Amino acid sequence: MTDRTLYLVTCGAPLASRIGDGAQAARDRGWDPYVIPTDAALPWLEGQDLANVPVLTGNRAPGEPKCTPKADAVVVVPTTFNTLNAWANGNANTYPLTILCAALGSRTPTVAVPFAKHDLAGHPAWLASLAVLRYAGIRVVDPHDGSTASLEPLQSGTGDTVTARFEWDWVLRILG
Ligand SMILES: Cc1cc2nc3c(=O)[nH]c(=O)nc-3n(C[C@H](O)[C@H](O)[C@H](O)COP(=O)(O)O)c2cc1C
Repeated sequence: MTDRTLYLVTCGAPLASRIGDGAQAARDRGWDPYVIPTDAALPWLEGQDLANVPVLTGNRAPGEPKCTPKADAVVVVPTTFNTLNAWANGNANTYPLTILCAALGSRTPTVAVPFAKHDLAGHPAWLASLAVLRYAGIRVVDPHDGSTASLEPLQSGTGDTVTARFEWDWVLRILG
């Protein structure tokens, strides 16, 4: 065990199928990973090797003691159109969104890997939400090549290819 806690929030898009790899890569870099999936991400978790990785799926009951350490850093891989916009707007009506809004509010180091096709990324809310998140200090990583300077939407039908080529090092090296 280390004393560095990393929350791996994952949303409902193909790159969620790499979250087990991400937990392992985080461990290799000295993090204690916790996976926090949205409901829509759950189908992509099936069959992944998440042995010994806590998967947190809900809020604790009132009065139940807090048993998860505070995050030293958060990654959101992938960040869907839905979650990115909700997060930027301050919606905290699910456990993952509450974690993300609290991370933003507490300026916890956070890296997001947005994952949306052209049609969704063409919606005006997308660029506005990215601007809000970047302004608040969120580091945004392009899932195609790890760029932090630009972000390309996915071409239709390329989700699996982009997922296969994604490298966790692009995200984890930002956190040190
Ligand atoms: C097979 C499949 C692929 C999807 N791919 C994406 C995607 O690449 N990007 C995206 O923003 N939403 C994608 N979606 C839609 C999201 O899963 C949907 O908007 C969901 O409500 C997101 O919820 P979440 O943000 O809570 O994870 C996909 C859905 C399915 C069933």
